[in-house]
Amino acid sequence: MKKGNSTGYVAQLILVTTLLQACCATAFFVDAAPQPFVSPGYGLPGFNSMRHRSILRDEVAARLKELGNVSDSRHVLERTFLSPAALAAGRLLASWMRDAGLRTWEDELGNVHGRSDGANATAPALLLGSHLDTVIDAGKYDGALGIVTAIAAVKVLKIEGKLQQFPRPIEIIAFSDEEGIRFQTTFLGSSAIAGTFQPKHLKNVDARGISIGAALRAASHLGTLESLSTMKYEPTSVWGYVELHIEQGPVLEAHGLPLGVVEAIAGQTRLAVRVEGSQGHAGTVPMSMRKDPMIAAAQSIVAIENICTHPEKGVGGSRGATAMSTAVNHAGAIVCTVGEIHSWPGASNVIPGEVMFTIDVRSKDDSNRETNVVRIESEIRKICRKRGVGCVIERKHEANAIGCAPGLSDRLNAAAFTAMRELPPFRNNFTALEDGGFTAPTLVSGAGHDAMAMASLTQVGMLFLRCTGGVSHSPAEHVQDDDIWAGSLALLRFMEGVLGDLSQNQSA
Ligand code: GLV
Ligand code: MN
Ligand code: MN
Repeated sequence: MKKGNSTGYVAQLILVTTLLQACCATAFFVDAAPQPFVSPGYGLPGFNSMRHRSILRDEVAARLKELGNVSDSRHVLERTFLSPAALAAGRLLASWMRDAGLRTWEDELGNVHGRSDGANATAPALLLGSHLDTVIDAGKYDGALGIVTAIAAVKVLKIEGKLQQFPRPIEIIAFSDEEGIRFQTTFLGSSAIAGTFQPKHLKNVDARGISIGAALRAASHLGTLESLSTMKYEPTSVWGYVELHIEQGPVLEAHGLPLGVVEAIAGQTRLAVRVEGSQGHAGTVPMSMRKDPMIAAAQSIVAIENICTHPEKGVGGSRGATAMSTAVNHAGAIVCTVGEIHSWPGASNVIPGEVMFTIDVRSKDDSNRETNVVRIESEIRKICRKRGVGCVIERKHEANAIGCAPGLSDRLNAAAFTAMRELPPFRNNFTALEDGGFTAPTLVSGAGHDAMAMASLTQVGMLFLRCTGGVSHSPAEHVQDDDIWAGSLALLRFMEGVLGDLSQNQSA
């Protein structure tokens, strides 16, 4: 990168802006005007590969930080479906979408959309996005990264005058529910757009007994099946869906590269178990006369660990070995988690009357997952019978594994390569490689993504971005600013590739 007096001045300006943003960040969203950023080198000869660094890198990093402060909790990051912070985050994202030249609206399930019709409003649209909700005590990149980087890439298209020329509509969607924290069922927003929203879910209730329908009505939506059915996109109106997401695992870090291409996403089942026993006095009921649901739950949890450590293969068996990623990657692998447990009434001197816990089961092999979910269900029932307690097991969420579209993955691979080769922090990794000779690491995602729901509507493609130590679903989640730059630039290069294809009248 060339350095000169003006560059030094601009660097100071950015530093001051960033510091100001950091110290003035509040725990809640105020509808502020977009922050100005000045690009060092933009417009100067020789800065082609550095163009819009301030938008693609610095502004994205600052916005992720700002969004990371939009929380329902004072102490940790928490934005669950339709919560006050989730609604505020949606408004903030909409303001950034407008700044990128997009027309915005919120749909009947709280998804926030930003769209440009481009040169042909009726052509099938390119959709980009990720989710705006978070887990509890979350990191600030999971979900938010994919939305904010897409906004930055579109903003560059706007600045370069390419947005209006784009031969098809571009739409960014900030999905309202991917984590499934509030209602245990996930992909609510994306499934409604894909037309797979299950009517029974409208009656799901949260921990306070509020149904999804009631939560929607409280957020000024109609909350009816009819209103949700209007959200469905016609497959012919969509060209494809692309999502950038942090890897949430350690593989890219081990490869020493910021970007990888997702080949498939593991399927998942979420169960809710209620164990019912006899509530009683902790000091007076002899051990032999208790019907303690806590012990049955504890025994069940150990049984679940045992089953998932030694899974039985389903009839589908393996899809073959692929060199890559997560705990769910290798043939027959399955991961199971009990992440939530509550007892009633929850007092130290009371034998609980009831214990509720959740089970999350994932595998890239659907039949393998199903086989082992059935084993888990029958083992829990056996334990409950033996202990004389009641057991109700509900399947709250089910999503089959999906494969990403090879055509989109090839384009994303090329875009990732171009981006990494262009940027100074990564350029040296590629000196020995020829154009087209590079294959980014290919990963199987153990985490769920909105792309899973969107896959029933259209072809999907995903890029993963390296995160420090592979840590996610934790406040320790971290992404380097230069990696953010590579991610945003890869999305930009991907869109320019689509633009190039179509302007040459090739089929895309
Ligand atoms: C979402 O992050 C999930 O995979 O649970
Ligand atoms: Mn996510
Ligand atoms: Mn997540």
